Amino acid sequence: MRTRTPAIRARAAEVLDRLPQDADWVQDFCMPYTVHVIADLLGVPDTDHDTITRWDTLLTSLATGAELTAETVTAYLDFTQEFTEYFRDRAAHLADHPDGSLLSHLIQEGDNLTDHERIQFLLILFPAGSTTTVILLTHIAMRLAAQPDVIAELRADPAARPDFIEECLVERSPSANVFRTTTRDVVLQNTPIPAGAHLLLLVAAANQDIPDRSAHLAFGHGVHRCLGAQLARTEARAALDELLARYGHIALRADPSSLPVRPHLLIPAYERLPIRLERPS
Ligand code: HEM
Repeated sequence: MRTRTPAIRARAAEVLDRLPQDADWVQDFCMPYTVHVIADLLGVPDTDHDTITRWDTLLTSLATGAELTAETVTAYLDFTQEFTEYFRDRAAHLADHPDGSLLSHLIQEGDNLTDHERIQFLLILFPAGSTTTVILLTHIAMRLAAQPDVIAELRADPAARPDFIEECLVERSPSANVFRTTTRDVVLQNTPIPAGAHLLLLVAAANQDIPDRSAHLAFGHGVHRCLGAQLARTEARAALDELLARYGHIALRADPSSLPVRPHLLIPAYERLPIRLERPS
């Protein structure tokens, strides 16, 4: 990940430099930034980033509460066909011209995966990696807007930034809940749960009660623990560093309670966050 950090930082800087003073933090910063990072990770050329952004927006809206209508189902089917053809072509190209990207590694080393499994993995990677990181970055901006003295502290003390990011992950865990199915009978806190039970685990709520906050569950736990945890932390740190290097004050231009949140059980996300960015005085 360390080798990718300068490229991630450059993406954060590039997107921040395009922001107007009055911006929509979610739409104008978090979404393009996280899409660029995943596209770069996969080795998608810059000329195709607009296509990736269009797919990510569609996938995010479908994965996070769009109504199921004939149009949305058709849009999804068209999208999966386009997505599959695009990545099949890229895979065919990378098989002869490896470039060190994640996709290239998947082709060179993931030979126990079928084509279908590779595409399914990529289809998971986009919503798993972008919406969650967007939620974290949104909460970071909300915290900085709510507590202007924190901006001053973090500007003065870069060493405090990783803990601030962890606090944000605990305060509003992006992956709020996860599903599980029990593989055997189990007794949890004196409650018997039979094999085959479908459970909704309230990760965000559990994180509020956890005695040792450094052991938080925001990236899950066990064999399915988040594969992108290190990437997400690197993205958050790069965005925070670049933001603090440019701005000394962030103000919300709307009452957070009036802002639309996608009503998704697993990853509820603000759709917009209107902010005003001010240079340090
Ligand atoms: C703040 C950002 C992120 C958070 C809070 C987060 C959270 C999580 C959580 C809680 C899980 C476990 C889900 C479960 O147990 O059912 C998970 C799995 C996963 N995450 Fe993340 N994630 C983030 C960013 C990313 C990024 C940037 C990527 C990659 C680009 C990524 C890729 C994945 C993948 C592939 C899995 C599935 C792992 C498996 O099933 O073995 N995530 N994530």
